[in-house]
Amino acid sequence: MANAGKGLEGVVAAETALSDIDGQQGILSYVGYSIHDLADNATFEEIIYLLHHLELPTESQLASIREQLAQEREPNGFVSELLPTLAANAAPMSMLRTAVSASSAKDPDGWDVSEAANYRKAIRLCAVFPTLVAYYHRLRSDEKLIPPDPNLSLAANFLYMLKGDKADDDTARMFDTCLVLHADHTMNASTFAARVCAATLSDIHSAMTAAIAALKGPLHGGANEAVMKMIKEIKTADKARDYIIKKFANKEKVMGFGHRVYKTEDPRATHLRRMAKELAEKTGDPHNWEISQEIEKTVMDEKGIYPNVDFYAASVYGYLQIPTDLFTPIFACSRVAGWSAHVREQYADNRLIRPDHGYVGPAPRDWTPLSDRG
Ligand code: COA
Repeated sequence: MANAGKGLEGVVAAETALSDIDGQQGILSYVGYSIHDLADNATFEEIIYLLHHLELPTESQLASIREQLAQEREPNGFVSELLPTLAANAAPMSMLRTAVSASSAKDPDGWDVSEAANYRKAIRLCAVFPTLVAYYHRLRSDEKLIPPDPNLSLAANFLYMLKGDKADDDTARMFDTCLVLHADHTMNASTFAARVCAATLSDIHSAMTAAIAALKGPLHGGANEAVMKMIKEIKTADKARDYIIKKFANKEKVMGFGHRVYKTEDPRATHLRRMAKELAEKTGDPHNWEISQEIEKTVMDEKGIYPNVDFYAASVYGYLQIPTDLFTPIFACSRVAGWSAHVREQYADNRLIRPDHGYVGPAPRDWTPLSDRG
């Protein structure tokens, strides 16, 4: 009985119109649109609009949200002053958690919690996350900051601010697709954390901070970094099988595999696998791809467990030459679209989230004075 509902498996914690999963069939949709159609056709800006308005934008609506997002890319002065200190002292996810929390101090909408102000704050947060990550990385690398280019898409602009060179269209499109694939995923741990926080009627920045904190863990968003570390440890494809078998023998989990909801292929992994393969061919460097293939085959042969979103995302980001410790912050740069939409959805029909518990402690007992305790 103590384990009933452990991990809240199967518990419906909130109703949402934002995304849906059929874990048996491997189906994911955002507001009714198949993730496959969205991955093949949508831009991340369209996804932000879709999640916040529950409809795809018209041309003029898309132009308008693109402009709003492009205008809100610079962090406020308070956060800009804080960033060098964070770059010198904090790991990337800790930086993001702190910088997003600090962003609330000088948000132009202040403590206005109206629906309109919360929407503006949400767009601002979606716009500024990539800048925080890129500025942080350049500061810690002693490189000149690259101001955002309003003519570039959110995805292309991030790569530009991070690396200082404009990505070619194919690369920018691929990264854009990664953002599309990570934008929302029903009641995952970080989204749930955001909704729990919002349900106390705390502010949207606090809810985003809670979400980042939850995403950071290796059982959630932190898995993509752990995958790349594993690939690097394995070194060559011929060593992958033994490495994985040893992990299983030690009862360790293989990061990037398994999922609470999917009992078949995670549909996001299908796209990320394809992109990893394309990039292996394009870059002429099959290394990560071959090791990943061998890991996937071994995990399937030994345990019948499928890769999740994080497994091939690691190879894709590796091929895009993104530093490994930025993988999880990049996940956040996408998921902020879903988190902020979920928080607005929570505010719109709120009830405090307060689950019940199963008590497993001692039965009622008498107070023992300090002098009588052995
Ligand atoms: N490697 C090895 N075994 C795994 C596994 C993995 N990645 N994922 C699940 N399993 C096994 C468990 O050991 C367990 O086996 P058992 O029943 O023999 O004890 C069974 O599958 C169920 O796993 P459990 O951890 O209870 O499932 P969960 O729903 O609580 O956890 C995850 C889901 C995602 C946390 C889990 O699959 C995991 O830890 N994966 C690795 C981390 C990861 O990639 N996270 C990103 C998720 S998108």
